Amino acid sequence: MIVNGKTALACLTKVASLDGAQVITVEGLGTPENPHLIQEAYALSGAIQCGYCTPGMIMATKALLDEKPNPEVDDIRWALRHNLCRCTGYKKIIEAVQLAGRFVRGEVTPDAVRPKASDGYIGVSHPRPSALPKACGTVHFGADIKLEGALELAVLRSSVPHARIVSIDASEAEKMPGVAGVMRGTDVKGTGVIKFMAPDRPVICGDKVHTIGDPILVVAADTKAQAEAAVKAVKVEFEALPVVENVEASLAEGAIQIHPNLPNLVADASVVKGDAEKALADSAVMVEGRFNTQRVHMAALEPEVTLAYWEDEDEGEDALLVISGRSINIHHALGMLQEALGWENMKYIESSTGGQFGMKLDVVSEAIAGAAAIHFKRPIRYVPSLAESILMCSKRHAYDMKVKLGADAKGKITGYSIDILMDKGAYRSADIFGRSLFTVSGSYNIPNLKCRLRLAYTNNPWGAQPGARDSRRSRSPWNAPWRCWPRNSEWTRSSSDFRTR
Ligand code: FES
Repeated sequence: MIVNGKTALACLTKVASLDGAQVITVEGLGTPENPHLIQEAYALSGAIQCGYCTPGMIMATKALLDEKPNPEVDDIRWALRHNLCRCTGYKKIIEAVQLAGRFVRGEVTPDAVRPKASDGYIGVSHPRPSALPKACGTVHFGADIKLEGALELAVLRSSVPHARIVSIDASEAEKMPGVAGVMRGTDVKGTGVIKFMAPDRPVICGDKVHTIGDPILVVAADTKAQAEAAVKAVKVEFEALPVVENVEASLAEGAIQIHPNLPNLVADASVVKGDAEKALADSAVMVEGRFNTQRVHMAALEPEVTLAYWEDEDEGEDALLVISGRSINIHHALGMLQEALGWENMKYIESSTGGQFGMKLDVVSEAIAGAAAIHFKRPIRYVPSLAESILMCSKRHAYDMKVKLGADAKGKITGYSIDILMDKGAYRSADIFGRSLFTVSGSYNIPNLKCRLRLAYTNNPWGAQPGARDSRRSRSPWNAPWRCWPRNSEWTRSSSDFRTR
């Protein structure tokens, strides 16, 4: 926003400090029917993907152009330095600021650059239908929606990776101002367990936690601040269990079983073509190495906000429970929630989403909000903080890869083997481990391949495979995920072996 002519971060500015100030937000610039030139420039430049960052970007642009209508690229970078974008990247945004400058200076009009329907569709960049509403701040993300009479939630999360829950004392929390009550794992109807690929993730943990961040107890209160204050008053006693830190430890003889009804080994899959062992033994040059990659948090800017409310409430047990989350797989999400919460008449709707990246395939806040709506018989708003979002959501898996690559005397690759240990973390999600095998040779024709992948539970943050769909772009940094890195590294090493021969 712009406060007295200067940009200010709305998320960090206290309303009390704005007494008497002149404040302009993106809603004060224009509407989708009558947009400001800067809003038009962002929409026409393709600078808006999820749109969560867009109001801030536009206001920073307005402050810049008010002061300097013809900025250099460095001026633009400096003006936008406090504004983060996770989806679009900054190139298109810088182009949008440059186009806005041209509009503001009267060098060109939006009508002159806007593609027309008669221009056709192939090879023409038409603005997205959602772009102008996002540029004008009329799109509603989850936390923008207020529900009358809604309770706000705060969730007590595990600070330890593997432990038995000995006791939970919420007696103080229940007496605190504004608190409507608490909800434990035993209060969840239905199975109480999310089954994405396997029934392994409790909606609220009952007797055991499997990873840091596991939900243990939910407090519902009139305000978020009251719920958060009450959560701090809850006392939990844990009995520590051995922590399984990696796949090797998980598969070792005598390793503790993380889920009582599920083996630690989730999958053991192979792809074999030709005879890689023989090809490697016969190769003129053979290189081998071990590569490790870390878990990656995808860092969407919007946390996993969920609203849960009732329609046809008079119908009692047949009332319709509406869950507004942001999964891109709403039918799968609905099925998981119905089973876990034990409520059949349920509808899942998707609100506008501030960053997706595949990590929001998982229902992480929806089940808690839905269970709370059933338990408290009230509408629910669950707005996690960004820190809580990091604790609750899935990450890209960590890989441990042993590779061998061989080539003949002419430098032609003859064989490749890779043995992958993939760290599932505590729960299953969109594992998509098959893609790591199917695309292991990328776009190269390798006659002999031997690829094995083992996926196992650990007590680490749980994994999905965000960005996996880009796996076919063998040079993409988003490559699904990392197995192209050892292949291409070994490639480079083998070629340098040839160069030094
Ligand atoms: S478009 Fe910038 S964060 Fe999504």
